[in-house]
Amino acid sequence: MVRSTVRQLVLRPKFLAHQLRCLHTEDKKWQSVATAAATAATQGVCVPAQESLPSMHTFRYSDTIVRLAEPHQLQPKPDAAGLQFGKLFTDHMLKIEYHKRLGGWQKPVITPFENLVLHPAAKVLHYAVELFEGMKAYRGVDGRIRVFRPEMNMDRMNRSAARAGLPTFSGPELIKCLSRLVSIDQEWVPHSESSSLYIRPTFIGIDPSLGIACSESALLYAILSPVGAYFSSGFQPVTLMADPKYTRAFPGGCGDRKMGSNYAPTIHVQREATERGYQQVLWLYGEDEQLTEVGTMNIFLFFINDDGERELVTPNLDGLILPGVTRLSILELTRSWNEFKVSERKITMAEVIKLMNENRLLEMFGAGTACIVSPVASIHYKDITINVPTGSQENPLYYRLERALTSIQYGRVQHPWAVTID
Ligand SMILES: Cc1ncc(COP(=O)(O)O)c(C=O)c1O
Repeated sequence: MVRSTVRQLVLRPKFLAHQLRCLHTEDKKWQSVATAAATAATQGVCVPAQESLPSMHTFRYSDTIVRLAEPHQLQPKPDAAGLQFGKLFTDHMLKIEYHKRLGGWQKPVITPFENLVLHPAAKVLHYAVELFEGMKAYRGVDGRIRVFRPEMNMDRMNRSAARAGLPTFSGPELIKCLSRLVSIDQEWVPHSESSSLYIRPTFIGIDPSLGIACSESALLYAILSPVGAYFSSGFQPVTLMADPKYTRAFPGGCGDRKMGSNYAPTIHVQREATERGYQQVLWLYGEDEQLTEVGTMNIFLFFINDDGERELVTPNLDGLILPGVTRLSILELTRSWNEFKVSERKITMAEVIKLMNENRLLEMFGAGTACIVSPVASIHYKDITINVPTGSQENPLYYRLERALTSIQYGRVQHPWAVTID
């Protein structure tokens, strides 16, 4: 049955669209979210062929239990200016447990923010059975709170869960639980167009026993953290270290999943880059030194191609690349503008050097939820420094993209990618 459904999904992505529509027809408010997810499915962005279909067994938002913090437990709200990433957390959190022996998913619970209690043998502590997502809630110019394409994060979270041997769930149901959490802590969404409330859904294996196996007990939880402007004093193009002796991901691995185990091994490399005077790591892969990602962002190059036209390129999703929500949004936006060629393909260091030597490289930038876009000033590679003129373009593309995406997020323009939370 599962195999035949997977086959249906691979061969007929519209089948998933239909499934998602059926699941949520009863809930008018979230119809738009389900439809957006269904559209994403028909565009071929979800459901890996090699892994099992997300189970239809799920928790339900309508079962949510809410335990509000007592007035004396509420923290003072910080000033939007001076917020540091991930240092402060709001008053409440979401917890959803899964226990196979109790029939699977349990009721979602929103509780005052609290520490977790874990058995010392919990799988997360030994085998890194952990995955997470990074999303933001934005306070719009009209005072309403919006989240950006949340169904994409849910889809990616389910794919990470499948690879980690954790149970899958209904993305639209989790979006509803997260929205309720944000709405309870809504005063924590900064009243500022350069700040936001970071949403960190996290999923861990917590079985109280050693052994590398699928988790029979798991905890999905979400915490919220107000975050400030990424570039507090305007855009500052960053310097990159590209050292082919390091790689972030490899074929058959998990580079395309947002699992904590992908990030721990990068910390040492980032420290080395900092010690050598560079701000970020440009991750290369393979004998031909393919550019894969920059820091924790997808990478884009804007250049003049062999036919003399302008082209925007980013590496194709070959398993090494995290399928970023910002990446997809940039591809979709620029394709809709129809002003220059937009491609997804392999890019090598040899090609970057050739473009640079021929003065054809216009811009290079990273893209991700944290900063939207991060312009690149230079790459240090094998004792040479490649200067990239990103910061000296007139009306640069990276800036246009930042404006276009933040306009959607902060409600300066109405767009179906921005889902309001009431
Ligand atoms: C390795 C990596 N690449 C790319 C991204 C950008 O993804 P998104 O645009 O969904 O934030 C992230 C951040 O989540 C990341 O950790």
